[in-house]
Amino acid sequence: MNLFSPILIGNHTLKNRIFMAPLTRCRSVEDNIPNDLMVTYYEQRATAGLIITEATQISTQGIGYPCTPGIHTLKQIQGWKKITQAVHDKGGKIFLQLWHVGRISHSLYHDGKLPVAPSAIKPEGEVYTFEGMKEYETPRELTIDEIEELVTKYVIAAKNAIEAGFDGVEIHGANGYLIDQFLRDGSNSREDRYGGNIKNRSRFLFEIIESIIKEIGADKVGLRLSPSGTFNDMTDSDPQKHFTYICNELNKYKLAYLHIIDALEGDIRHGANVVELSVLRKAYKGILITNGAYDKERGNKAIENNLADAVAFGELFISNPDLPERFKTNSQLNKADPETFYTQDEKGYTDYPTLS
Ligand code: FNR
Repeated sequence: MNLFSPILIGNHTLKNRIFMAPLTRCRSVEDNIPNDLMVTYYEQRATAGLIITEATQISTQGIGYPCTPGIHTLKQIQGWKKITQAVHDKGGKIFLQLWHVGRISHSLYHDGKLPVAPSAIKPEGEVYTFEGMKEYETPRELTIDEIEELVTKYVIAAKNAIEAGFDGVEIHGANGYLIDQFLRDGSNSREDRYGGNIKNRSRFLFEIIESIIKEIGADKVGLRLSPSGTFNDMTDSDPQKHFTYICNELNKYKLAYLHIIDALEGDIRHGANVVELSVLRKAYKGILITNGAYDKERGNKAIENNLADAVAFGELFISNPDLPERFKTNSQLNKADPETFYTQDEKGYTDYPTLS
C-alpha cells in the first residue's frame, strides 16, 4: 500500500491517496462568490484523490479574511456548482471545508460589531483587514441561544454544499478558529455546558457533527483537527489527553474521515506540546488523513507504516497542479511562491506549469 493505492472514502473509491489540503487563496473578490478563475484552479488539480476546498464561510459572521468564499447565499452556491461540475467532469472528487473564524476577525468585517467566541479572551497578534493590519479585539462571548443557532448555520451550510454538488464537507475544527477555540482551555473559560472539562468543551463540535450527519449522512462528513497547533494563539493544558478523548468519541460516528495536521517540525505554529500522531491513530478507528510538510517519500512511509491512510499536501499542490503525475514519474517539483498565496489574480494561482 502506498500513495497510489485506491482508497474508499464514504461511498467513493478514490484513485489515489494524494489529497489536496484546504488552502485559502483569497480569489473570491466579489461578494465572497466563487468565480471562473477558481473553476480553472480546482479543475487543474482534479487528479488529486480528493480535493478539500479552501476554508469557506458558513455565514457572514464567520468571515475573518478578505476575498474568501462563502456557502450561505444563492450566488455562492451557484459559483461552487461550476467548480464541482468541472472537477467531476475531470474525474475528481471534492469536499467543501466549512469555516467560522470566531475571534480571528475584526469588527470592520461586521459593521462595527465585535467578533464572537466561546469566551471574551483576546488573541495575541494582528488581523488582516481591508484597512491593513489591525490588533485583535476582545471578542464577545456567545450566548447559549447563539451557540444553538450556530449549529443550525453549520447544518444549512452543509446542505448548501450538497446542493452545490460537493461529494461531502470537511468540518474545520483546526488552526485556532471557532470550533478549536471551544476545544481548548486556553480560549474557552465558559462555566456552562460548553465549557469546563473536555466533554463540555467538545460539546459544540459533537453537536455540529451529529446535526450535519442527520442531514447529509456520515459518509459525507469529514473533520479536520490540529492537536499540536499553536497557530492563532491556541494554548491548551494537555492537548494529548484532550485530543485522545476526542478521537475516542469520534469512533461513535462512521465519518468519511478524520484529517489531522501533524506537528510541523521547526514550524512556529506547531512548536510546543506536540501530540503524537501514532497515539491518535491508535485511538481513532476510521480513515485517517495526515498532513504537514509531507513529501512523496515521507507520505509513502506514513501509509506503509500504517500511521495514516492518506496524505494531504498543501504547498506542493499550490505549485504543482499535476502533483500525482509528478510523484509517479519522479519529476521535478515547482516551488510555491508565498508572495502570491493571498493575492487576487491568476499569477501564482493558475499559471504553475504542468508536465504536459
Ligand atoms: C493553509 N492551510 C489551511 N488549512 C485549513 O484547514 N484551511 C485553509 O483554508 C488553509 N489555508 C491555507 C492557505 C495557505 C496559503 C497555506 C500555506 C496553508 C494549512 C494547510 O492546509 C496545511 O495544513 C499546511 O500548508 C501544511 O501542509 P503542507 O503545505 O506542508 O503540505
